Amino acid sequence: MIAFMNQKGGVGKTTTAVNLAAALAQSGRSVGVIDLDPQAHLTLHFGAEVAPGSPSVYDVLVDEGTPVDEAVMRVTERLLLLPAETDLAGAEVELAGLPDRTLRLARKCAESSMLRGLDFLLIDCPPSLGLLTLNALVLAREVMVPMQAHFLALQGLSKLLETVSLVSRGVNPDLRVTGILLCMYEGQTRLAAEVVGDLETYLESHRGEAVPWRDCRVLRPAIRRNIKLAECPSFGRSIFDYDAHCPGAEDYLALAQNLTVEAEPSVNGETAERAAGIETAHDIEPPVVVTSVQGAAAAAPAPQGSGHAAEAP
Ligand SMILES: Nc1ncnc2c1ncn2[C@@H]1O[C@H](COP(=O)(O)OP(=O)(O)O)[C@@H](O)[C@H]1O
Ligand SMILES: [Mg+2]
Repeated sequence: MIAFMNQKGGVGKTTTAVNLAAALAQSGRSVGVIDLDPQAHLTLHFGAEVAPGSPSVYDVLVDEGTPVDEAVMRVTERLLLLPAETDLAGAEVELAGLPDRTLRLARKCAESSMLRGLDFLLIDCPPSLGLLTLNALVLAREVMVPMQAHFLALQGLSKLLETVSLVSRGVNPDLRVTGILLCMYEGQTRLAAEVVGDLETYLESHRGEAVPWRDCRVLRPAIRRNIKLAECPSFGRSIFDYDAHCPGAEDYLALAQNLTVEAEPSVNGETAERAAGIETAHDIEPPVVVTSVQGAAAAAPAPQGSGHAAEAP
């Protein structure tokens, strides 16, 4: 169960969730994808649409009586989608007053029989560190951070890692940040090479520490900037249905192969295990600082580095 998380928008979260899911499904794995972004771009990218009157992830979150399995759609034989609509924006507010506001998604998924047999479950997070993202972090086992190799892209990393720590110290002690994925990568630039170097130095400096990112790596291959990846969402297709031989398709397929070689599929049994833990857990008290990116910036000083170095959280 992997959450794609970065509080910055436009870094490649949705593109990665869609095309990595498609690549994994194409190589024979069963995959579920959860659209947790109120923009519903992931749902649109799959060419899916919630039928009028049908439930979506919003109903699953705010309505005790709507099970996950009622909202799940089948995109292809091996690919399931828990879709979103723009009404998901209201869920943050509606969840805010509930005692189990960050546990809802995990608890509901644990009750789902459709998700239980899957090899992979990928979660597309919204560009914020609010309640929807916290719900994703309570459910997930792994966090992957798509980012662009700009020096500003590294600025939000400490806040992101702090949020993951918050959840791992509480309800989800197994949560790990396993990878940083460079998207829209332009490998020939000096800046890109410097950013990768800085990231690796930063990650190396935390090996062996008791932090959830102690095993985090910069994932290979980086996803090259490829116009086909930007074109295919408007056709409601993954890159493999749009142009199976373009560099974007090659990169996501290679990434999927690396992930399946390194880690055997991990959803089986996990949701039930997590559910048992959640039954006894207290909900996380989300501090004001994690409810929005602006709030986070105001409450905690931004990293003070002058260059593009990754800042210690
Ligand atoms: N490797 C890439 N090459 C070219 N365009 C890309 C690439 N990855 C993403 N894009 C485009 O960049 C924009 C932002 O990507 P998206 O995945 O929606 O980011 P996020 O979900 O983090 O907001 C989209 O228009 C998308 O099509
Ligand atoms: Mg997105």
